[in-house]
Amino acid sequence: MKPLIVANWKCNPTTIKEAKELFDSVKKGIKNIKKAEVVICPPFLYLKELKEPSSLKKRNSVPLVGAQNCFWEQKGAYTGEISPSMLRDFECKYVIIGHSERRKYFGETDKMINKKLKAALREKINPILCIGETKEEREQGMTESVLKRQLACGLEDISKTRFPQIVFAYEPIWAIGTGKACDVEEAQKMGLLIRKIISKNARVLYGGSVNSKNAVEYIKEAGLGGFLVGGASLDAKEFIKIVKSVI
Ligand code: PGA
Repeated sequence: MKPLIVANWKCNPTTIKEAKELFDSVKKGIKNIKKAEVVICPPFLYLKELKEPSSLKKRNSVPLVGAQNCFWEQKGAYTGEISPSMLRDFECKYVIIGHSERRKYFGETDKMINKKLKAALREKINPILCIGETKEEREQGMTESVLKRQLACGLEDISKTRFPQIVFAYEPIWAIGTGKACDVEEAQKMGLLIRKIISKNARVLYGGSVNSKNAVEYIKEAGLGGFLVGGASLDAKEFIKIVKSVI
């Protein structure tokens, strides 16, 4: 399977003009790349502006757009929410669910994440489920038990037949935005753990301070299926280098 490289722009940039410039630069830089699937997850407001009309068909050479979050209900009186039905209507192929920043700043629990996963799957959108331990949990040797809990609770009552639709992102929280990426061996170990629990073919990404220098190791050495890139995805040149480094 081709590496999947997902850009998580988070709450950036602050203008549509900058968003377009960034997107267009990435698009230009990866124009002829067919050996990787590139997805850009901008803030919701920019999705419509950035999506290519035929991006689903031309996904080999054009970055797809994905969402950074979604709600668990399809419609109704839920002020401020965006539903999976809306994303589906928009032909959004991927949605990030359970990012550690959502868990930390917006109180998302495993239970809420489970509901969001089910709702996205129902609408045939591929969820990118983020899991990962904090620095403290890691220091206490709890990494594996945290991942097991997040997977067990997050996937509760979801049929195994749906698992191939889900992308898993191992994102140790202490590595996100810190410049301290996880050791390749450790990322490999967690990737294997996830595959042992889910399936040997599960698509597992790594996220946490990925850059153009360290990216290739997670694929070539750790055997992972791609990345979730935060900070480095806001720099078109760096992001293009990341994509090119793994193909
Ligand atoms: P980072 O973020 O690449 O800036 O560490 C990764 C993420 O939050 O997904």
